[in-house]
Amino acid sequence: MRTDIDRLREEALAAVACAGDIEALDQFQVLYLGRKGRVTTILRGLAGVPAAERPALGAIANQARAEIEAALARRRQELAAEVERRRQAAEAIDVTLPGVPWRVGRRHVLNVVRKEIEEFFLHLGFSIAEGPEVELDHYNFELLNIPRGHPARESQDTFYLTDELLLRTHTSPTQVRVMQAMAPKLPVRVISPGRVYRRDSVDASHLPFFHQVEVLAVDRGVTFADLKGTLEHFARSFFGQGTRVRLRPSYFPFTEPSGEVDVSCMCEGRGCSACGGKGWIELLGAGMVHPRVLEAGGYDPEEVAGYALGLGVERAAMLVHGIDDIRLFGQNDIRFLEQLGEEGC
Ligand code: DAH
Repeated sequence: MRTDIDRLREEALAAVACAGDIEALDQFQVLYLGRKGRVTTILRGLAGVPAAERPALGAIANQARAEIEAALARRRQELAAEVERRRQAAEAIDVTLPGVPWRVGRRHVLNVVRKEIEEFFLHLGFSIAEGPEVELDHYNFELLNIPRGHPARESQDTFYLTDELLLRTHTSPTQVRVMQAMAPKLPVRVISPGRVYRRDSVDASHLPFFHQVEVLAVDRGVTFADLKGTLEHFARSFFGQGTRVRLRPSYFPFTEPSGEVDVSCMCEGRGCSACGGKGWIELLGAGMVHPRVLEAGGYDPEEVAGYALGLGVERAAMLVHGIDDIRLFGQNDIRFLEQLGEEGC
């Protein structure tokens, strides 16, 4: 019996020492020390042992039970420490690891082009003024010599908010707002970039909102030659030194005379999809500020003159980058934005 106890003790101690997790320990606890466990069974069996041997065997069996209990407790502690160590290792933050780089946004191509236009005119001594997008009919049309019922309103299908209030259809109303704010000071040299709205159905060349930059110069002795020189200078700096400019007679109620401005196409008339084989690309509208508009702005048309032009930012961006669908600007396709946008904000 004594050897049985010794063997059992050795076996139990070895099993406990090898237990890989708490669950295994629990099972050994039941197997050896539980109510029907093997050590318990031996202790119970002592009742049948001759009285003379009982104290010695009892002492050995109790000793074995104590050793197994101690081993179980020790192993339990070890395993708990191991579990804790693993948890801490898993949760630990390695501050020496390189950080996860942030995806930095880019400036939208329309903002890049708008900024280039702004920079050009800022260098010529113009300053920037902004006008409201929700505008009065009075400024959007009336003061620009486009009274109610005038056919020129037809080409600018308008979102009216009330009879008097609308979403501006162009940046030209800023011309009068700027002059009214400045008169009688001279010279007026202002550009006004911003968003404009027209009730157009969406297709490859139309959106119900787009961007323009208005340019206005008023002073004593300003002539058509100043307008032409500015246009040529702008076209060369924007589209390349070899670019030529062509003015076609046109009509805008707020300029007289008025012209449509074309720039020479890179294909030089050999024919391409950008110019449809014409060799010229329509870029903007321009003209000498109409005397009535100067008056509305608070200037005497006998004393001063001015030129104005209105440039479409989407149109300029499409020409410069060879973009054939205006909808791309608003679709937020990351491939488009990353290809043409500029780093920074
Ligand atoms: N406001 C005109 C439009 O949106 C463009 C324009 C034409 C602006 C001639 C001008 C100008 O300043 O002189 O169609």
